Amino acid sequence: MALGVFDSGVGGLSIHRALAETFPAADLIYLADQAHAPYGSRSGEDIVALTRQGCEHLFARGANLVILACNTASAIALRTLQQSWLPEVRERLGRPVNILGIIVPTIEEATGKLWRDHAEPVSPRPKNVHAIAVFATRATVASRVYEIEVDKHRQDIAAFSEACTHLARLIEDDTPREVLKSVIEDHVANATRRIGRAPDEAILGCTHYEIVADLFAEALPPGTPLIHQPTAVSQALKRYTDRHLEYDIGHSAKRDFFTTGSGGLTGDLVETFWGAPLTLQPLQLTPSI
Ligand code: DGL
Repeated sequence: MALGVFDSGVGGLSIHRALAETFPAADLIYLADQAHAPYGSRSGEDIVALTRQGCEHLFARGANLVILACNTASAIALRTLQQSWLPEVRERLGRPVNILGIIVPTIEEATGKLWRDHAEPVSPRPKNVHAIAVFATRATVASRVYEIEVDKHRQDIAAFSEACTHLARLIEDDTPREVLKSVIEDHVANATRRIGRAPDEAILGCTHYEIVADLFAEALPPGTPLIHQPTAVSQALKRYTDRHLEYDIGHSAKRDFFTTGSGGLTGDLVETFWGAPLTLQPLQLTPSI
């Protein structure tokens, strides 16, 4: 039995690393859907179908919990899969399985409120809100999930999302850091213009961006706090598994890494971030789209 970690590509490794620290004995299976990356420019229908296909594979390999280590899949596919697909899967597999996303823990961390604690609407809205810049994919930004959910929980905080349309692809392609640096500087400048001043805080709302978190930190005004999504997610999962003992996530500390792409070494950017060379094993999934 295992804990599945799913992303369109290498971004979810940032979440995987935090999970491996929090659950050292668990068996972790990582699946990167690189054959279909990036998800951020795909239709909602595609994102749901591909995420379902990845989860199905992880369940078949013995995962009882799957973490969508991808903001795009969490924003677009999670609720649909939980409501209209999981009940059938549980019945078919005859064991408790679940899929969890990474946006709920990030919103909880950003607002200091639990998911169920909604704020009373305040009128008029406070003038000097705490501005959080959210850097994310086109699909995540279009969903407005960060704006909507922050607003539901705190009216003295506002999220301002900036779509970094090509950044996940550039990171997947192991683009040189100088090029990434200037792309990131442009996105930080856009976010600053939209807010009308520098952000008070930032969220890297695409797991790929964590791999170049240092470039975001350099582009933002010195000392701008960054909400660390991997830590928020791993701590939230710890609380969840402590409450839900029915999900066995393994005890042999196995680490498997698969990709629907061509496989092999992940490249310099990931190696620097990961601290060692990392090989993804190729895997053939039956095409669902
Ligand atoms: N890493 C993913 C995210 O957090 C997806 C990036 C993409 O495939 O566009 O949104």
